[in-house]
Amino acid sequence: MATRAALAFLGALSVCSLQAQALMPWPASIQPQAGATAIDTSFSAAVSGAGAGDPRVTEAVRRTFARLARQTGLPLLPRNVAVERATLRIVVEQKDHRPPQRLGDDERYSLLVDGARIRLSADHPLGVLRGLETFLQLVGPSSTAAGFAVPNLEIRDEPRFPWRGLSLDVSRHFIPVDGILRTIDGMAAVKLNVLHWHLSDDQGFRVESKRYPRLQREGSDGQFYTQAEIREVISYAGQRGIRIVPEFDIPGHSTSWLAGYPELGSRPGPFQIVREYGDPFGAIDPTKESTYRFLDGFLGEMTKLFPDDYFHIGGDEVDPKQWNTQPHIREYMKLHRLANAAELQAYFNQRVQKMLTRYRKRMVGWDEILAPRLPKDVVIQSWRGQKSLAEAARKNYVGILSAGYYLDLMRPASEHYAADPLKGETADLSPAEQKRVLGGEAAMWEELATAENIDAKLWPRLAAIAERLWSPESVTDTAAMYQRLDQVNRWLEWLGLTQRSNLVLMRRRLAGSIAMPKLEAFASILEPVKGYERHRNHYGASSPFNHLVDAIPPESDAAREFRDAAERYLAAPGAPAAESLAKQLAAWERNAAEIQPLLESNPLLAENALLAAAVASLCKAGEEALSYREAAAPVDWKPRALATVMEANTHRANLLIAIAPAVQKLVEAAR
Ligand code: ACM
Repeated sequence: MATRAALAFLGALSVCSLQAQALMPWPASIQPQAGATAIDTSFSAAVSGAGAGDPRVTEAVRRTFARLARQTGLPLLPRNVAVERATLRIVVEQKDHRPPQRLGDDERYSLLVDGARIRLSADHPLGVLRGLETFLQLVGPSSTAAGFAVPNLEIRDEPRFPWRGLSLDVSRHFIPVDGILRTIDGMAAVKLNVLHWHLSDDQGFRVESKRYPRLQREGSDGQFYTQAEIREVISYAGQRGIRIVPEFDIPGHSTSWLAGYPELGSRPGPFQIVREYGDPFGAIDPTKESTYRFLDGFLGEMTKLFPDDYFHIGGDEVDPKQWNTQPHIREYMKLHRLANAAELQAYFNQRVQKMLTRYRKRMVGWDEILAPRLPKDVVIQSWRGQKSLAEAARKNYVGILSAGYYLDLMRPASEHYAADPLKGETADLSPAEQKRVLGGEAAMWEELATAENIDAKLWPRLAAIAERLWSPESVTDTAAMYQRLDQVNRWLEWLGLTQRSNLVLMRRRLAGSIAMPKLEAFASILEPVKGYERHRNHYGASSPFNHLVDAIPPESDAAREFRDAAERYLAAPGAPAAESLAKQLAAWERNAAEIQPLLESNPLLAENALLAAAVASLCKAGEEALSYREAAAPVDWKPRALATVMEANTHRANLLIAIAPAVQKLVEAAR
């Protein structure tokens, strides 16, 4: 159903409309029906069909009872009954004869809710997993005595792309196993199906190698996953329909390898993992045969540990200086007629690819690896722009899009939502070429994220990307997306995700004697600076990430709502709207003025005092702009007000005042 119709659907379902608002990703097809099906303590389930015994299905049904109990507060225990008596009847048509999960496994399902029963059908066990998430999203409060219900409807659903992932960097900041499992829960909830685990980089090597134990011993400060933990994560993800694709980034971004094995380095060691901004980086030496013997041993071990067909070798951002400054490497390049560092890297990639083929893996790499003579079965991950994805597809490579999905850049959900693997430079591809676009991956680099706030860096924006990769191309209404995103964000908390709760704890830690509502109101209109702005400030392993900028979400809901209201007002000015906007600005102004002296006397928040002053002045300028709707402003007012806005647009302590652009519009529009 197209988005316009979807919105009409939301409006039409009066009793149970709240549940449908939580659907994300929006299904391929949804037909609303009148009424609802109650969820009460008699809830039961039955699974039938050739695939009924699949352990993924059995476990997913067991989890559904627990999650339903949590969502509703009803005392629900797993009750598997005869099919004809079950509330939830699940049919899995086919047995999966070749687990573990592979790219392209069938994820289609249909869900019929008809007032008496709920029928979930799928050909493949994965479809049941996806359909159960839809079912759980649909459960919400109802006006019936049972208190909970699912709206009657019929859904037929299938993904637009087979590769829908998250690339998660655990090298820059380590995420312990519980955080990874929680992330997998969230991913499964929004139907993502690949966790691309960025396990090594300059700052840390995060996997236990039994063959080369100095990798983790010297390269991780003790923060790494044991092989038992890796197997636990793979199994946990597999149960939830998520493939784990490991990445070991070579030949650049590899300083952590060199800490324990300096002989792999292009220049003489010793090396230490990169702990502070500005520490020197290293690159693996592609000219020594001993390098390839080492890599062969390492890949032999890791390709056994990670069962997925795909294996990521990174390949991004190799610093040519690491090679060009070394006489023995220059000599080698001359001898092998390799004109530059890029050609040397291409040579290295070909040798690594041969090893991976021997280990029955398909190689994946960032788009720098796209070079002449690269074997055609390599997957290109496009991060520097969609152009490389188009180029790869034209050259007969399959690829996945990450450009546009960099969650670490602190951009709003709407921007990620607008990025589409088949729009932009890929739009002109032929249908056959477009088929080579497998999907996309959000990317979360963790220079500035920690285990404490990682959930808030991922969620809820990751759900918007999940929808882009699952839902039909026509589902593009940003306002409807935000409405559902808010619901889904709250729903995800039932899984134990901490994107809201941990930030509250972090702000409480900051507040000290400042009353929380004051700090909350102040923080609610701030956002972290965007892009790589904050990266430019020195940071490192010893930097505390406990400032206000670390304790707020990437996107301010309050600022977005204010901007929307201001735009509505500017399109159709009216006194009630002006009053409402002015009232909001006055409340923020008052709060900022009150909190400013309190911030000054709080050691952790003192850096935000100037920002509070700027908020107060900005709000005042906005209020004045609204008051000059009818009476013309004094001649010198507008330049002064715009100077105030400019001042408010200067970020401080890595924070932006997120309402500033909307206030600027109000000021510019004033008479
Ligand atoms: C990357 O962001 N360097 C892949």
